[in-house]
Amino acid sequence: MKIKLITPDPYNAEAWAEALRVERAFEVTPIVRALRDVNVIVNGSRPDLVLVETTTPQDFEALEKLAHAHPEIDYVLVGNDLSPEFLMRAMRAGVREVLPAPATPADVLATLRRQLRKRPPVANLPAAQQGEVLALVSCKGGSGATFIAANLAHLLAAGGTRRVALIDMNLQFGDAALFVSSETPVSNVADVARNISRLDADLLRSSMNEVAPGLWVLAAPDDPAHAADVTPQHVHQIVELAREMFDFVIIDAGRSLSSVTLKALDLADRVYAVLQLTLPFIRDGKRLRNVFRSLDYPANKIHWIVNRHQKDSQFSVDDLKKTLAIEQVITLPNHYEAVAASVNQGVPVERVAPNSTIARSLRELAENIAPPTVGKGRSGWLSSLFRGAPQ
Ligand SMILES: Nc1ncnc2c1ncn2[C@@H]1O[C@H](COP(=O)(O)OP(=O)(O)OP(=O)(O)O)[C@@H](O)[C@H]1O
Ligand SMILES: [Mg+2]
Repeated sequence: MKIKLITPDPYNAEAWAEALRVERAFEVTPIVRALRDVNVIVNGSRPDLVLVETTTPQDFEALEKLAHAHPEIDYVLVGNDLSPEFLMRAMRAGVREVLPAPATPADVLATLRRQLRKRPPVANLPAAQQGEVLALVSCKGGSGATFIAANLAHLLAAGGTRRVALIDMNLQFGDAALFVSSETPVSNVADVARNISRLDADLLRSSMNEVAPGLWVLAAPDDPAHAADVTPQHVHQIVELAREMFDFVIIDAGRSLSSVTLKALDLADRVYAVLQLTLPFIRDGKRLRNVFRSLDYPANKIHWIVNRHQKDSQFSVDDLKKTLAIEQVITLPNHYEAVAASVNQGVPVERVAPNSTIARSLRELAENIAPPTVGKGRSGWLSSLFRGAPQ
């Protein structure tokens, strides 16, 4: 395990490095400097763990930035601010453990050994972490696929508990980013495709906007003409890399079936086909179902969502099930005010109208996809983060 020890205190740097030398699995580089003045990644070589002593708020901000840019590194913090607010911020930044200053060499050794035990043994390490890829496709324009994709991505990120990528593969008229944010996209799918030879985690991350904690968006190109720059091979590379970097990758595949969107659907673990209960949607739903059949997608890969569902509609969910010969349908209610407010403000419906029927149903859908971790109360994770606290 490659460890960088970063502290402005030369005495600590030496004493900690000395103590860690007894553990053969550790490869330690001590750096006597404040974190904000340190290049943690040198020539692309990154440590597995950074142990950093922060003595100023600026140092802690530098740590937050670093942890955002490099969530693949583990962080252990030595600090003297032990307030719950601070620990909460540290937890949000992805810090594994906080040690109270002054930390003795024995404390540091015990903590890093604990972190070492938590790492999977190298031989059993999977090739890479594999996130789940979910693609949403509209049976017909205006079904609500983008609204659902964007809001589902926001809910799955659960305030930063998980890392989620929302990728807009509706390359000509994609607008997914605008459903959850009013930020101007820093880049887009076509830009990434043009730079595909340099594609790595850093490039992909820097091409995305983090619009909410844990929610990263890769926007569609601004100019519809740039859609042509993106090939299925590009989609493959982008999605497979995103799968390694995120817990969930949500793709808005839009409504057109092109070689690019079909590649995205192929890569998806689950496809959500969105329609409404009117004849034009049902007709196109049937066509889409035939496409899925001809692609030999297993039935359990496809999930059908009836959006804007109203009890008094002319067609029932049962009619739809019969017509498409499917067994299960997810319904999301029609809620004009809540959805219009969310869409017009570019803010997830969970934040605009958390008690609305649509927000509740989306929450249920998200919880079905990724059950919330139970038994991890506030005090639970705080205490596991902050093991060094006196009892
Ligand atoms: N459950 C809902 N209740 C009320 N209105 C909704 C609901 N879902 C979506 N809408 C409305 O439908 C409009 C279209 O939704 P959205 O843009 O997500 O559809 P889409 O399938 O992505 O369309 P496109 O094919 O153009 O990409 C939204 O602007 C929103 O106002
Ligand atoms: Mg759309």
